[in-house]
Amino acid sequence: MANDRAFPPGFFDRTDESPDAVFYLPERLVTHIDQGAITAVGELYAELGLAGEVLDICSSWISHFRSRPRRLVAMGMNEVELSANDMATSWVVQDLNVDPVLPFDDASFDAVTCCVSVDYLTRPLDVFAEVARVLRPGGPLVVTFSNRCFPTKAIRGWLLTDDEGHCAIVDTYFDLTDGFEPAEVRLCTPAGRGDPLYAVLARRAR
Ligand SMILES: C[S@@+](CC[C@H](N)C(=O)[O-])C[C@H]1O[C@@H](n2cnc3c(N)ncnc32)[C@H](O)[C@@H]1O
Repeated sequence: MANDRAFPPGFFDRTDESPDAVFYLPERLVTHIDQGAITAVGELYAELGLAGEVLDICSSWISHFRSRPRRLVAMGMNEVELSANDMATSWVVQDLNVDPVLPFDDASFDAVTCCVSVDYLTRPLDVFAEVARVLRPGGPLVVTFSNRCFPTKAIRGWLLTDDEGHCAIVDTYFDLTDGFEPAEVRLCTPAGRGDPLYAVLARRAR
């Protein structure tokens, strides 16, 4: 992975190094954050005006948009989950830890989203570089996360730190990727109630 020496040895290791395709074989038609956090994701997408051509990576049956973008491509690991995503206009099954190359043309999306999943990426800088390639100038990559995860599949570096550290990790991914403007870090939910929802987002440089 490009620039992986910026991280300590073992940072991207996981307890469960078996193929992700095995872990994600059973469909999980569940929500991974509470309703307050889901609402916060939808409000953030609405505020950012994500209404055009959007790619949702690490997607499932729910993409949290308040209203359907003109085009929403959902990429994830489970065909049953993705085919149940009623916001998606199309979907693609692809293991980004095996193949981080996005099957799309340069500058083909207005925005890319990644909700409660960045901690599962073992080659995040390759994925972020691909996202920068497929984004149009000015388009954001919006990475959101809370404080829960599938611990056996999350990278060790994520498990060893806290919310503030998670924001710093994603900020560093943006910083190390050519083509993004400086990232913005936000807490999108009120402090102290329910699941926290953090967003780290940056726009494709013009
Ligand atoms: C906690 S779920 C979140 C799903 C959805 N984004 C949401 O907000 O509910 C984590 C998702 O990460 C995706 N994922 C995990 N490992 C992946 C990999 N190696 N390649 C692509 N997607 C992956 C899976 O498809 C899974 O649905």
